[in-house]
Amino acid sequence: MFIFAKKISMSKIRLIYKYFRHLLESKNTKGHGIHSPYLYRFTQNTIYEKNPFYVFQQIETLRDHLKNDDRWIEFKDFGTGFDRDVQVKTIAKKSLKRMVWAQLLFRIVNFTNAKNVLELGTSLGLTSAYLASPSADIRCVTLEGSHSVAEIAKENFEKLALRNIAVEIGNIDAILVNVLTKMGTLDVVFIDANHQKKSVLNYFEQCIKHIHPETVFILDDIYWSADMEDAWKIIRKHEKVTATIDLFEMGIVFFNKSFPKKTFKMVL
Ligand SMILES: C[S@@+](CC[C@H](N)C(=O)[O-])C[C@H]1O[C@@H](n2cnc3c(N)ncnc32)[C@H](O)[C@@H]1O
Repeated sequence: MFIFAKKISMSKIRLIYKYFRHLLESKNTKGHGIHSPYLYRFTQNTIYEKNPFYVFQQIETLRDHLKNDDRWIEFKDFGTGFDRDVQVKTIAKKSLKRMVWAQLLFRIVNFTNAKNVLELGTSLGLTSAYLASPSADIRCVTLEGSHSVAEIAKENFEKLALRNIAVEIGNIDAILVNVLTKMGTLDVVFIDANHQKKSVLNYFEQCIKHIHPETVFILDDIYWSADMEDAWKIIRKHEKVTATIDLFEMGIVFFNKSFPKKTFKMVL
């Protein structure tokens, strides 16, 4: 128990240290050092844009309801392989991307005019809702391993009247290739499922087979562990990757050959 507590605090200390280093290195230039006109516009319209869209309020009202949802559901943990019971409100409070990050996803899909959007890790479906909301023409496919969690997500899409999201239930390791074959090319991919280096790199390698020059990948929790940081380093160096934006909590990946192969550190 003591060792476990010590481990948790060590990883928290590591995160705090990394975050302060990130703040120092990002220099808060608001994207002004970026020479590529497209990348500059991307940062201004997604990262630094703060105007709300009308759907934000609806999704956030739903988040508030979920934070008070006492229902118990069975949750399959893909990290340990064990099933456990958990309350919906616990998932809503602890496992979902916070509002500002979820809204950044909306802005990225909106700015890039994406139509084929893939999400790995649905949970209760709040980020899926943001990814699918910019236009009814978007086809958002989201993958979740836990049946009961996916059922709540579907319920939420009904409540938000979002008909352009398909939930694929199963272990991503087993179903991803088939899903990708059905989807064809990908415009935006959000990777937020199993936070282990091997899995993240596997998801990345599979998805990269379906990119075009304007595709954008977003990786969540890139400094969550040393393992995730390693995966992020490998991805940044990947031969097909050009520019990357490091926001500490998320990493944004571009493949357009006209962009510099460079990492821009920024603060949301
Ligand atoms: C952090 S949550 C996703 C949160 C969601 N994107 C949001 O912010 O609204 C990660 C989800 O990925 C699912 N997951 C993790 N590993 C998986 C795997 N190998 N196959 C399928 N689902 C998996 C978990 O069940 C969990 O619901």
